[in-house]
Amino acid sequence: MAEVIWGLATSHVPSIGAAMDNEKTADEYWKPLFDGIAPARTWMAEHRPDVAVIVYNDHANAVDLDLVPTFAIGTAESYDVADEGWGRRPVPPVVGAPELSEHLIRELMDESFDIATFHQLDVDHGLTVPLSIYCPEPGDAWPCAVVPVLVNVIQYPQPTAARCYALGHALGRAIRSFPPDLKVAVFGTGGMSHQLAGARAGLINTEFDRMFLEAIESDPDKLAALTREDYIREAGTEGIELIMWLVMRGALNKNIARITDTYHVPASNTAAGLALFENLGDEGKGSVAA
Ligand code: DHB
Ligand code: FE
Repeated sequence: MAEVIWGLATSHVPSIGAAMDNEKTADEYWKPLFDGIAPARTWMAEHRPDVAVIVYNDHANAVDLDLVPTFAIGTAESYDVADEGWGRRPVPPVVGAPELSEHLIRELMDESFDIATFHQLDVDHGLTVPLSIYCPEPGDAWPCAVVPVLVNVIQYPQPTAARCYALGHALGRAIRSFPPDLKVAVFGTGGMSHQLAGARAGLINTEFDRMFLEAIESDPDKLAALTREDYIREAGTEGIELIMWLVMRGALNKNIARITDTYHVPASNTAAGLALFENLGDEGKGSVAA
């Protein structure tokens, strides 16, 4: 049976991808951020999954704002890298895992999560930047297949944090009920605090981010209890992306081990964070708030 071996929570700021694509990672501005994520990269390279289930949001690049599904999963054989206005990032196309995607959709529907399906999808920085954080030099091909899981965090009303956490629990159960012996990693992307427009543009809330980085491991129920207005007030209009970390957390067991984390301000106008967790043991499997 498939198993979830680790979970990665990471920001997906587009300029992190651009820094890599333009070989600026050793520049004074970027070096502290890339030094911070280096231990996670080393550990992940030693613990390669067969498939990455990447929970992310499209930013009106591939998904038109006329129709934004609350939750969706891609079922394609492969996903092109989206052109976000500056040409496609120079990274490989993303190979899908259609049989696992279809299994996850079926299982989640049976658990009353009404999942939309993308048979075709270009993937934007929300997905490709986390892949680059996982694997900085993919060469011609990424080292794993990918199942994209999309969450609407950009158009009101977004799903609640509690619903995202519950989706994570169901996602974990669905992965574990897939018969092939696959090793699966789950990525929760976005955040940390940031607001790109409006009167509070540039908002950073370090105290909230630090609390979140700790509680995502030790007290996810507390984070799941926050309202969407709490997220937007504390973390900014785009900081609500953090609810996608709860999908990842829900897919892991109660017992996890923090391998490493890092927090850096600023990456563009954003507080960038990363936390990497190994999934431990059977105890409490799929538990916390089933
Ligand atoms: C930016 C975009 C994002 O999607 C994000 O999560 C953080 C920052 C940006 O354009 O700077
Ligand atoms: Fe984003």
